[in-house]
Amino acid sequence: MSIRTIDDLEVAGRRVFVRVDFNVPLSDGEITDDSRIRAALPTLRALIERGAKLILASHLGRPKGKPRPELSLEPVALKLAELLSLDEVILPDDCIGDGAKKVVSDLRDGGVVLLENLRFHPGEEANDPAFARELAVLAEIYVNDAFGAAHRAHASVSALPQLMEFRAAGYLMKAELAALTRIQDDPPRPFYAVLGGAKVSDKIGVIEALMKRVDGILIGGAMANTFLAARGASLGKSLVEDDKLALARTLLQKADDAGIAIHLPRDLRVGASIEATEGRVVGIDEVGEEEMALDIGPATLRAYQEALFGAGGVFWNGPMGLFENPAFAEGTLGVARLLAESKAFTVVGGGDSVAAINQSGLADRFDHVSTGGGASLEFLEGKKMPGVEALR
Ligand code: 3PG
Repeated sequence: MSIRTIDDLEVAGRRVFVRVDFNVPLSDGEITDDSRIRAALPTLRALIERGAKLILASHLGRPKGKPRPELSLEPVALKLAELLSLDEVILPDDCIGDGAKKVVSDLRDGGVVLLENLRFHPGEEANDPAFARELAVLAEIYVNDAFGAAHRAHASVSALPQLMEFRAAGYLMKAELAALTRIQDDPPRPFYAVLGGAKVSDKIGVIEALMKRVDGILIGGAMANTFLAARGASLGKSLVEDDKLALARTLLQKADDAGIAIHLPRDLRVGASIEATEGRVVGIDEVGEEEMALDIGPATLRAYQEALFGAGGVFWNGPMGLFENPAFAEGTLGVARLLAESKAFTVVGGGDSVAAINQSGLADRFDHVSTGGGASLEFLEGKKMPGVEALR
């Protein structure tokens, strides 16, 4: 069954519950990256212009079913008011109950309420039907624009929409599904995946799924260490998942059998610790006993540039090194630059790689930057997503 979008619904004067993913990074109560809020604005603006009464709901962090003041959505409400040029976005203390009902019944057409953190109630993560019913009484229409949370079988993404007669996807959800479906079903060829991040164990599912449709996989980040170690490299104090060496060998063998090239680093930038202020470029067999690999080296970057030359499509997830430390950012920023310049259809998924391209200022040069980390990986693994299924 196909999924309707907000364009298919009559929303004027009606109470519309919009599940958004405003799970933004905070530092000392300040939002350090507001891209997830910005990404929902097209849906919110369209609904406001059409005279809907908006009831927005999100989780923030993992408060484990209890109110935690430091995980209040208050900074998000302030930021949202600023971005929507509203005097204020009202934030009732609780997402359900009389207070929320009162604020919602006072809403005028085009008005916006943001409910307090859904995960302050255990019913959210438990996908509790009783909690979902308490949310359901607040609205007449349900919209899901929270792609980043669509892989969670939680009440606001799964049980709630099934209680609602009218339900639809927002524009962000639609754009995410369109870009990732293209990568999944009919990627422009040759199609490559660039995978990084810390652990092979986080990426096994997606590597196996991608192997069925890519022309090559380029690996970086600490995850590459485990593959290099599996091939016999000795990497000093580098992060290596010793219990995953056999798995890494199996994955390399599977790729070989399928005729898929797996590109691994040829050189590395190493440092004495993650706090090191400068790195040293070495070959993969030259890591000192007291050193750790913290980035791919320049020869690897050149090799990856050559491998990606002429690509039709590229999916990128995970940084190539410890990009938060400027001494080890070059590999990740270099990949960001070369993909930004590429004519390929480029999709970036995953929190850290998205943070890196935001840091590089190149985000608008990619065809699609996913707001979902775990969600985009689960989608590409071919898993059914509760939040998407519930919209059908
Ligand atoms: C995310 O940040 O990936 C989503 O908001 C989901 O958050 P979660 O991993 O805490 O469920």
